[in-house]
Amino acid sequence: MSQPILDTFGRKHTYLRISLTDKCNLRCTYCMPQEDMQFMPSKWLMQADEIQTLAGIFVDLGVEKIRLTGGEPLIRKDVGQIIQNLGTLPTSLTLTTNAVFVDQFIDDLKNAGVRSLNVSLDTLNETTFKSITKRDHFNKTLDSIKLLISEGFVVKINVVVMKGINDTEVNDFVRLTLDEPNLHVRFIEFMPFNGNKWEMSKIVSYNDLLSDINKQFEFEKLEGELHDTAHSFKVHGGKGTFGIIGTVTHPFCAGCNRIRLTADGKLKNCLFDTTEIDLLTPLRRGEDIRSLIYSHFHKKHFAHGGHIDFTAKEAKADYEQNRRMIAIGG
Ligand code: GTP
Ligand code: 5AD
Ligand code: SF4
Repeated sequence: MSQPILDTFGRKHTYLRISLTDKCNLRCTYCMPQEDMQFMPSKWLMQADEIQTLAGIFVDLGVEKIRLTGGEPLIRKDVGQIIQNLGTLPTSLTLTTNAVFVDQFIDDLKNAGVRSLNVSLDTLNETTFKSITKRDHFNKTLDSIKLLISEGFVVKINVVVMKGINDTEVNDFVRLTLDEPNLHVRFIEFMPFNGNKWEMSKIVSYNDLLSDINKQFEFEKLEGELHDTAHSFKVHGGKGTFGIIGTVTHPFCAGCNRIRLTADGKLKNCLFDTTEIDLLTPLRRGEDIRSLIYSHFHKKHFAHGGHIDFTAKEAKADYEQNRRMIAIGG
């Protein structure tokens, strides 16, 4: 194995998130602001064989875990093949998906060794689902989650909590975890990206979430890893867990181990970093991309979004320059 991907703060980058597309079958406005829907032309996208070559290089540089993201990764026509290909690498493989099409990929996922999926679901109410996603796939999403669990997958539900929209449902989500050991729910603080009209007043903070849950449940904090996005908790006597991803009020940059590859083959060294470098063009020219990867991570800041005040004027200028979330993949 070659040298690992380190930054100047000693962080080792072992977790690669590959975005397969910037398209999605849903329209959650915090992720895909509706007014502006210019998608990448398909010739810009990494092809299945290019994804495999890039992933293989990253594995040689120490990557141990690959997550496929989007947009919605399962709408890509060749996603079955991509999953199958990546399943041959000596890494764990997983996906973040809205789960609408997951029933078509159960065998591909199992054959590739996928054990766990993260599913985006912000509400347990059909009407609220439609108002957040602008689509009618609520029942399909619930059925998909049940299917995944019955097929033996671990499911983490991602809930982006927004004030006045779904914040009254937090305890209903926690209740879902009580009897199901393979179901985990993570509440996410709404984060700012290009065009998504983020305001501090719209977020429900880590502390507010915990005190809300504390009104109905007794729970304990679980030990986690430094690189975990979520702080995890377990209700006394419960089987699953709940967690909070507090990017805005409880950033976790100190343990960051993440590498992001956008669907058009750009390398991001942080979710909030805008100085991306192109890996796809040099790969297509047959050039060495390892030195590009090392040097981009050598320039990684300790924190972009986290540990700075997102409400500051400079922060706004910075995140408005970043991609829309739909084109990063989380
Ligand atoms: P696990 O591998 O299960 O820990 O998943 P994950 O939390 O890394 O990935 P997922 O795609 O489910 O993302 C959940 C939330 O965490 C999303 O809102 C992501 O944007 C956010 N997230 C993921 N990675 C990072 C990161 O490096 N920094 C920050 N600030 N947020 C992140
Ligand atoms: N803030 C926080 N989380 C977000 N996600 C998408 N947009 C945002 C945002 N603005 C979440 C999705 C998905 C994960 C990849 O990122 O819900 O589960
Ligand atoms: Fe699609 Fe996920 Fe963004 Fe919603 S959050 S628009 S499901 S990519």
